Amino acid sequence: MRIDVLTVLPGLLESPFSHSIMKRAQEKGLLEVHVHDIRDYSTDKHKKVDDYQFGGGAGMVMSIEPIARCIEQLKSERTYHEIIYMTPDGVTLNQQMCNSLSMTENLIILCGHYKGVDERVREIYITKEISVGDYVLSGGELAAAILVDSIGRLIPGVLNDETSALFDSFQDGMLSPPVYTRPAEYNGHKIPEVLLSGNAKQIEQWRYDMAVERTKNRRPDLLTDEIN
Ligand code: ADE
Repeated sequence: MRIDVLTVLPGLLESPFSHSIMKRAQEKGLLEVHVHDIRDYSTDKHKKVDDYQFGGGAGMVMSIEPIARCIEQLKSERTYHEIIYMTPDGVTLNQQMCNSLSMTENLIILCGHYKGVDERVREIYITKEISVGDYVLSGGELAAAILVDSIGRLIPGVLNDETSALFDSFQDGMLSPPVYTRPAEYNGHKIPEVLLSGNAKQIEQWRYDMAVERTKNRRPDLLTDEIN
């Protein structure tokens, strides 16, 4: 899978893909992340990528030309499944969206900045608008990093134990049960007895029950009718 990220702050995206699972995914050749500096596509002598709003008002707007040039260049090289714009007014990201995006081959992600992008970028190029939550970040870069990470780890072969993504919170519409490691007792706090029983069936049932209880308590909106 190939993901091209378009940004005016490429430095912000150096670290998130250089560690742990994202690093391994790229080393294994399962994921390619290419970060493009939108400034490189500006023809202005000062490499300007933004301008004042028509109609007045505070804040700069990202201009269409450099973004269009970058997208056109990429589109001439390969076909993209989606061209995504990270924006707080997009559809809120969830696990189902991550699952389906992880099955695509090529994606472009555009990070917004300042007051946002010229609306015509959205009209002409953008096929999906995604928010990572109801709060406003300084720019789309951290949101793009969240999206790439949440998609990248789902690509088959990326996680060591392939089944582990299947048991993530949200994968089955439920939160994950609690987990414990050694010591079995810490300052008088013992782990649940069943986990030491060696009885796989009982442990599985306990994990399921805990997942249901946790979901009921914390995210009742996730529970399907059959469990309720
Ligand atoms: N850019 C700024 N805030 C954002 C958010 N919540 N989600 C996606 N992109 C953003």
